[in-house]
Amino acid sequence: MGIISWQNYPSIVILTGAGVSVASGLPTYRGAGGLWENDDVARYALADTWRSDPLAVWKTFGALRASILDAQPNAAHRALAALEQRIDRDAELHLVTQNVDGLHQAAGSHDVIELHGSLRHTRCSNERCALPPFEDTRTHFDRVPVCPECHALQRPAIVLFGEPIDVADERRSRDALRECDLFVAVGTSGTVTPAANFVRSAKYEGAHTVFINAEPMEPPNPYFDEVILGPAEEILPDVVAGA
Ligand code: OAD
Repeated sequence: MGIISWQNYPSIVILTGAGVSVASGLPTYRGAGGLWENDDVARYALADTWRSDPLAVWKTFGALRASILDAQPNAAHRALAALEQRIDRDAELHLVTQNVDGLHQAAGSHDVIELHGSLRHTRCSNERCALPPFEDTRTHFDRVPVCPECHALQRPAIVLFGEPIDVADERRSRDALRECDLFVAVGTSGTVTPAANFVRSAKYEGAHTVFINAEPMEPPNPYFDEVILGPAEEILPDVVAGA
């Protein structure tokens, strides 16, 4: 297995996907048993469905919220939190996740860019409303919650298909990629943009690029210098141990 010489890289970007949360009992999106195999879930993850049937969106994501609130961080999340503690004070580590489960923070990572939002949070659907997104453990199966400030409908604070990524989150990721000299993608199929293009940006900036995943990327992505195959919850503790 390749060992990463973390100390050689003063600016590191780690991108995670659903694979890092599999050992916490959460499903991936694609592949056997993945969330998108269920046509209802796939349909209710669309921005159009939010507009036409917001309660159906809450029923789907309320159930997913219940499962992520039950889940605990696993060895992959803990290894990345430990890496943040261990790397040199002069080095920078940016953790960017496509996951909406909040498990990196639950494991102790502090500075996490949640590119697709957070299912632990609810927000007002009115972009001009002053109410910020807030932590919410309710599932809202029976009724779509209404904003106390502006009376618009409240929704899960995640990015649905057909919606843009939050501008500030995308800019922070891009800024980190522009400076990075090590890019590591873990547990992601590399199929959803903008994250799928991050490796190309990192390579363009001259970074060393590593892919850690249970299975090879299909088709293989030529921008990765190194591929380490295996479960993230086994590989990450090993590759972080030498940091
Ligand atoms: P995917 O479901 O597309 O890919 C998960 C990857 O994790 C697959 O390549 C699996 O082989 C791999 N995997 C499974 N178990 C693993 C393990 N224990 N260790 C390491 N790898 C493992 O999930 P993402 O790439 O995260 O977006 O999906 C990206 C986005 O697509 C999601 O954030 C979501 C979805 O549509 C939105 O909903 C906006």
